[in-house]
Amino acid sequence: MSAAAPGTESAFDVVNDNGIAVVTLDLPGSPVNTLGTAVSDEFAGVLDRLRDDGTVRAVVLISGKPDGFIAGADIEEFGALRTYEEAEALSRGGQAMMERVERFTKPIVAAIHGACLGGGYELALACRWRIATDHPRTQLGLPEVQLGVIPGAGGCVRLPRLIGARAALDIILTGKSERASKALRLGMVDEAVPPSILRAVAMAAAERFAAGESPRRTRKRGTSGALLDGNPLGRRLVYRAAERAVLKRTHGNYPAPLAALDVVRIGLEQGERAGFDAERRRFGALAVSDVSRRLVQIFFATTALKKDDGVGGPARPRPVARLGVVGSGLMGSGIAGTAALNAEADVRLRDSDLVRVGKGLKAATAILDQRLARRRLTRPQHARLAALLSGTGDYSGFGRTELVIEAVFEELGVKRQVVAELERVLRPDAVIASNTSSIPIARIADGAEHPERILGMHFFSPVEKMPLLEVIPHAGTSADAAATAVRFGRRMGKTVIVVADQPGFWVNRILAPYLNEAGTLIEEGVPIELIDRTMTRFGFPVGPIALLDEVGLDVAQKASRVMHAALGERLEPPGAVGTLVEKGRLGRKAGRGFYLYHEGHKTGPDERIYDILGVKAREDVSPTTVEQRLVYAMLNEAALAASEGVVRSARDGDIGAIYGIGFPPFRGGPLRMMDDLGPARVVEILNLLKLEFGDRFTPAPVLLDMLERGGTFHGPLSRL
Ligand code: NAI
Repeated sequence: MSAAAPGTESAFDVVNDNGIAVVTLDLPGSPVNTLGTAVSDEFAGVLDRLRDDGTVRAVVLISGKPDGFIAGADIEEFGALRTYEEAEALSRGGQAMMERVERFTKPIVAAIHGACLGGGYELALACRWRIATDHPRTQLGLPEVQLGVIPGAGGCVRLPRLIGARAALDIILTGKSERASKALRLGMVDEAVPPSILRAVAMAAAERFAAGESPRRTRKRGTSGALLDGNPLGRRLVYRAAERAVLKRTHGNYPAPLAALDVVRIGLEQGERAGFDAERRRFGALAVSDVSRRLVQIFFATTALKKDDGVGGPARPRPVARLGVVGSGLMGSGIAGTAALNAEADVRLRDSDLVRVGKGLKAATAILDQRLARRRLTRPQHARLAALLSGTGDYSGFGRTELVIEAVFEELGVKRQVVAELERVLRPDAVIASNTSSIPIARIADGAEHPERILGMHFFSPVEKMPLLEVIPHAGTSADAAATAVRFGRRMGKTVIVVADQPGFWVNRILAPYLNEAGTLIEEGVPIELIDRTMTRFGFPVGPIALLDEVGLDVAQKASRVMHAALGERLEPPGAVGTLVEKGRLGRKAGRGFYLYHEGHKTGPDERIYDILGVKAREDVSPTTVEQRLVYAMLNEAALAASEGVVRSARDGDIGAIYGIGFPPFRGGPLRMMDDLGPARVVEILNLLKLEFGDRFTPAPVLLDMLERGGTFHGPLSRL
């Protein structure tokens, strides 16, 4: 039985199997199921018919997609909401649908395989019984806060009632998802089964409930959790702890988790009705808030980048089954391990001697081991992926690779030497990528026999964790080679932006003046903690001084010298970093930099820094000044670099800053932030900073131009 009106393609298919109606959702023309208005309306019609069909005794709800149940609400629809009233009405509709499912006279069983997130999990929550497959692709959760909203179709009320306040807050306030085994322990689902028997087990459950059995849930919560959750006093402690954790994480920059906490509390303390009302109102307000809009824009930008080969024209990306990696140090081993894990490519790792190769292979395998330990890989999967990694002290095996990434020492001579060696052993159409952080790609390609197949692939450390990859074609790189690198980067799980072959590319370019300014503040005696705290409150995950320690002061020094030489006085590095490098204070790896470390753990800022630098510590600097100097150094450089064409679009620039540096997502990225402030305000502040602190704050010409002639970085008025 097809469920749609004649002439439209149906999302639902219903089969009556001996009185059990199996309802299969398979959204036509879409790789995943989402719950948009059209699907919801059709579902209402399906429920009407099931109610009226006397032969139907129970219902199984399942997905027709091979790897997904329901990924969530339709974000296109959500992104188009303009007013509070529209948003509140959307939530009202969702709540009504879930309530109908919950009260449906015939039992409904959710049979879940693949992503079951947001509205998808809220639907499952309204069902009588939830069965999930134990497959790694099965993920359950309520990720709404990641888009700046809260679950709006009853999730904030039903989940705490099902699994208790503490566990529910942990899921809702972080937006994290869980696999079936954990979901089962928490009580988020009732059964976990292998995919092959999902349908049969669901049918059997439906049959039992149809015969009058009522669901028996054994609460599997830990006793301490149950004790706290079970009484109002205990729950007060839970709420307070949750609030503290949220504030620590978000510094109050993200309103959604606190709103969700409120709604959960109201739902538990004042009853379901009050909970639903609060949920609807808070959802309505959040959905049209600036923070949510920014987060949704980032979501769309990231999705668009997944389909963009970054070459602006037709290209034939080469399929890569075998990857070569030269240099098995920190970066090479990280690239090798991540390529095996996510791209499932055969990886050949080379270094100049076998001892180093051995070390590199061990580090690469450790990435897989971590996944195994966290149960993100099964033993057989781990064994299969580990077998993809092999090593060599020469170039044996490289003749069969389609792409080679070099991560040898940061020296032009060494890189050129490696390119020359590769050109002798590789197939003529294999692509050669350099993971240089500061050498122009054109110089590495200069003198090569086939410069058109050479480009940059700039990864960030640690490779397995950092989500961004910059792909850098030089002027002579072929579109095919660039597209090959972009596609392979995506297979490695990275968000990829294609950037110009200019000093520092994009991320290090805008980072350099920011870190320089942090060093200058230190030289003026501004406390380390004040600087870092100001920037984490602004929304960065770590402050600039802590970041310098992480990157390594010697590495940062080398990069800033290159930038200074290439871009001029504006980027002159402060002496502080150099002085500390001379004293062997290289940052975390040396156990001391600006901070002190004990067994790898940061113990606190080192007060002796000011003596070492010969400056007097001062407390009289306002956080606003610190914030403006740091942020505007980065914004101004971003404006300048973007106008020089370092990124292809404002979208790429903002995504690069967010994923590469941790620029606060709720601010949308540096270019979006300037669009929001408007050129008048940005120029005004830069001029004030210039007056007080020097010419490095001279506003970028593009900003003055926008001020005079209008325009923005993003959108149809883009001046890029
Ligand atoms: P590393 O010193 O840990 O590793 C370099 C490896 O290359 C060593 O194992 C060395 O034996 C090997 N090597 C040197 N010459 C070789 C040759 N001719 N043939 C084969 N192997 C050779 O250095 P790291 O940190 O991994 O950096 C590698 C590259 O990645 C550099 O260009 C660096 O600028 C770049 N990079 C580093 C980042 C970082 O955070 N460390 C971030 C992004 C890029």
